[in-house]
Amino acid sequence: MFQNLTPLAADPILGLMAAFRADSNPHKIDLGVGVYKDAAGHTPVMRAVKEAERRLLATQVTKTYVGPAGASLYNEYVAQLILGRELAESTRDLRCTFQTPGGCGGLRLAAEFINKCNPGARIFVSDPTWANHIPLLGDAGLQIATYPYYDYATHSIQFDAMMAALEQAHKGDLVLLHGCCHNPCGADLTQDQWRAVRDLALKNGFTPFIDLAYQGLGDGVDEDCFGVRLLAAAVPELIVVSSCSKNFGVYRERVGAFTLLCQDNASMKAASSLIAATARGIYSMPPDHGATVVEMILGDSVLRLDWEQELTQMRERISGLRTLLVQQLRAAGVDRDFSFIEHEKGMFSFLGLSVPQVQRLVKEHSIYLVDSSRINVAGISEGNVDYLVASIRKVLG
Ligand SMILES: Cc1ncc(COP(=O)(O)O)c(C=O)c1O
Repeated sequence: MFQNLTPLAADPILGLMAAFRADSNPHKIDLGVGVYKDAAGHTPVMRAVKEAERRLLATQVTKTYVGPAGASLYNEYVAQLILGRELAESTRDLRCTFQTPGGCGGLRLAAEFINKCNPGARIFVSDPTWANHIPLLGDAGLQIATYPYYDYATHSIQFDAMMAALEQAHKGDLVLLHGCCHNPCGADLTQDQWRAVRDLALKNGFTPFIDLAYQGLGDGVDEDCFGVRLLAAAVPELIVVSSCSKNFGVYRERVGAFTLLCQDNASMKAASSLIAATARGIYSMPPDHGATVVEMILGDSVLRLDWEQELTQMRERISGLRTLLVQQLRAAGVDRDFSFIEHEKGMFSFLGLSVPQVQRLVKEHSIYLVDSSRINVAGISEGNVDYLVASIRKVLG
């Protein structure tokens, strides 16, 4: 059965990680992998996570099964985190949340569920979007369509073209939107643009599907949910897949959620039973440890405050690095306007370099980034920014 298989091409990011590890250049910089890093280049365990883990270890009395939906308290806290207390209350009978193995598990669970409701349903994704959206949604049977999003020439959203394309999305279709901190481009919809998307969803009847993987890393925990909350208050059906990987720094614990809002309580109950059966048929139940840690943090005022403070420091560090990079490029006399990087949000931006220029950064300067020139801004530090700027200057010629 397996004799005719040939190895697939290596995942570009994983290949980059391996090459970075093997590189002995003391100046090497990793701008590839999408994880937060502190000034020393480490991806730390957050203080509140450490403390919650300590308490969990001391108090946990069983490791029996949790069920396909995961922990109900975690699910309720996540719903409140993304919707805000008020909306979480007013939508109580219309919504359900399922704890999932990371955001990826949530995306796949949602896709499998949609495919059962409407086999081969069309989902419009932004061009570009996070590469893993395609297999996560497409391999479940959904038909992928794209809408124009980022204009590489002007470093901004092509909003008119996006809306023109979304005119083609109707009832039975889905439109995938990045809730905040768009991966890979960092360009987020303005509040007015979110309103226009809401109006179009109401007019055409498509179902918005929001991927919220970076809540708290753009403008703030509540601010980053502007689009989610705007749509949740207006449209009859909404899907939100959220992840705690980045904002709680629990990447390897696999903590995420799939939240569904329905038009009425009966549809929500029926949908909920189908989602549970779908989860049972894929992974049965989500892993418990990371979700319990998140639940403990969100349910304890002291831990929650500490988490929010540390998250604020992370967010401010990232936006400070954006400013620093732009300033240093300007100060070095680089003859190109990089100011867009300062206005984009979250961990990612495109540098706007060509593939040969990126290749030179990797091969000649040991600066690791993917061919699209997407960088993880958190990989920059006060200690490496001068070398990075000098290297960019060289490859720009
Ligand atoms: C846009 C986007 N969605 C979802 C995820 C899911 O992350 P995880 O499965 O690690 O929670 C990521 C992670 O990089 C992402 O960038």
